[in-house]
Amino acid sequence: MNLRVFNNQTEASFQTALLLVDQITRKPDSVICLASGDSPRLAYELAAVLLRHSRMDGASWTLVGLDEWLGISPENPGSCHFFLRNHVIAPFGLSAGQYRLFNAHAQNPQQECAAMDAFLETRGGIDLMVVGIGLNGHIGFNEPGTPADVYSHVIELDGVTQQVGQKYFTQETPLRQGITLGLRHLLEARAALLIATGDHKAAIIREALTGPVSSSVPASILRKHPNATILLDKAAAARLPVS
Ligand code: F6R
Repeated sequence: MNLRVFNNQTEASFQTALLLVDQITRKPDSVICLASGDSPRLAYELAAVLLRHSRMDGASWTLVGLDEWLGISPENPGSCHFFLRNHVIAPFGLSAGQYRLFNAHAQNPQQECAAMDAFLETRGGIDLMVVGIGLNGHIGFNEPGTPADVYSHVIELDGVTQQVGQKYFTQETPLRQGITLGLRHLLEARAALLIATGDHKAAIIREALTGPVSSSVPASILRKHPNATILLDKAAAARLPVS
C-alpha cells in the first residue's frame, strides 16, 4: 500500500486527478470505476480540465459507477447517477456508450447486479477504481460486515450511511438500500486509489490503516491490495502514528 499525505485537499485532489489522467493516457480504453461524493469531486473537476488540454481528450475509456441508492431517481440531485452525470460524464464529454451505471429502479436488482458483473467480465475487469471512505469504513456501499469475496450486491444500508447520506439531498430522504460493486471488484481491480480529506475522516482512516484487516472496517481490505494508493490531506492523516 502506497500512502501519500498532502498539505491540503487541493493538493490531494490534484494528485488524484494526475493519476486518473495518467491511467487514461497510458490505456485510452481503460475501464475505470468511480465513486461519487465529496471526496473525489475536486479531483474529477481537475482531471476533466487536464484532459481537455491534452491530446487524450476524447479517449474511449469506460466509466463504471461504483454504487447507487436503490430506488432514488437519476434526476434526484442526491443520486450517484446525478453526481456522475454532472461531475464526470458531462465535463469529460463521455458518450452514451462510454458509461455503465447501476439502474436504481431495476425491477430485479439481483439481475441488475449480475448484469453489471457480466459487463465487467466481458470488458476484462477494472483497470482503476477511485473510491472514498465512509465514516463507518465503508467503500462503495460495502457496509461493515460485508465479506471480501462478493461482487455486485444489494445491501441494507448501515444507520451511519443513511444519516450521513442526507448531506447529498435537498430534503430528508429515506435511504434504505444500496446497490454496489463488491469488495472483490476492488481487490481484483488492477489499481485502486482512495482519497480522504478533512479531520472528520481522521479516526476512520486510522482504524482502516492501522487496525486489524477486518470486514468490520471494509476499507481495511485495501491493505491486501497489491496496487493500492491512499491519498490523504494532513487533516485526514492527523491520527496516524508518526513514522
Ligand atoms: C459514493 C461512495 C461512498 C463514498 C463515501 C464517502 O459513491 O461510494 O462510499 O465514497 O461515503 O463519501 P464522501 O466522499 O461524500 O465523504
